[in-house]
Amino acid sequence: MKILEAKNYHEMSSIAASMIIEKVRFKPDANLGLATGGTPIGLYQELIRDYRSNGTSYEKVCTYNLDEYVGIDSEDTNSYRYFMEENLFAYINVPESHIHIPDGTAEDLEAECNRYDLELSREKGIDIQILGIGSNGHIGFNEPGTSFSSHTHIIELAEITRKANARFFQRLEDVPTHAITMGIASILKAKQIILLVSGLDKAEVMKQLLTTDEVNEQLPASALKNHHNVTILADEEALSLI
Ligand code: GLP
Repeated sequence: MKILEAKNYHEMSSIAASMIIEKVRFKPDANLGLATGGTPIGLYQELIRDYRSNGTSYEKVCTYNLDEYVGIDSEDTNSYRYFMEENLFAYINVPESHIHIPDGTAEDLEAECNRYDLELSREKGIDIQILGIGSNGHIGFNEPGTSFSSHTHIIELAEITRKANARFFQRLEDVPTHAITMGIASILKAKQIILLVSGLDKAEVMKQLLTTDEVNEQLPASALKNHHNVTILADEEALSLI
């Protein structure tokens, strides 16, 4: 794993954006794996800024999101589909038909997981996967204890995850209890992975991840140590306990 230290959130976001923009310019039909949460918002803003000023085109790009809440409709302002529209898709020229996000309202959720896996495997693979990390080490919504051989699956969210994400909802009780998430094995199939980490809240989990070589299902992000092309792009605060 390569570790790149950025001064702050802004620098982290700009570096991540240049990596994506370079990929899309070099490979206009790149498959991008995208994440939600607060961390990648700055990256998406930088991509929008570049699209407006330099016209980098996403016409041939396909996007694949990591996860979606179960029971939340794509039109709902709390859905990850809505989040992506608001923070990125509405402002760049990626065609609607190229956007892939699991459907958390599918009647048969198991079938939806299989459908998403099929969709992922039909493509030639994700060129760059953006990830954030939960303070318990989750990636996507793969909570501690998730098998490293997992593909897209339904997960029960950890209490700490529901609490952390409650800031996007009116009340904690409104945060869904389950989500559909790409599994660890699905994530590791990406050709390149960029893990974005910012802020003091993530310093403890960065310490757990980076101060040992241990790979352990109790710390889902440690699976990234088994991948040949991972960059951890973290700011000074996130690395302050290392
Ligand atoms: C959610 C998402 C993850 C994200 C994590 C961290 O649980 N499913 O993909 O990495 O939150 O979020 P934040 O970036 O807001 O700290």
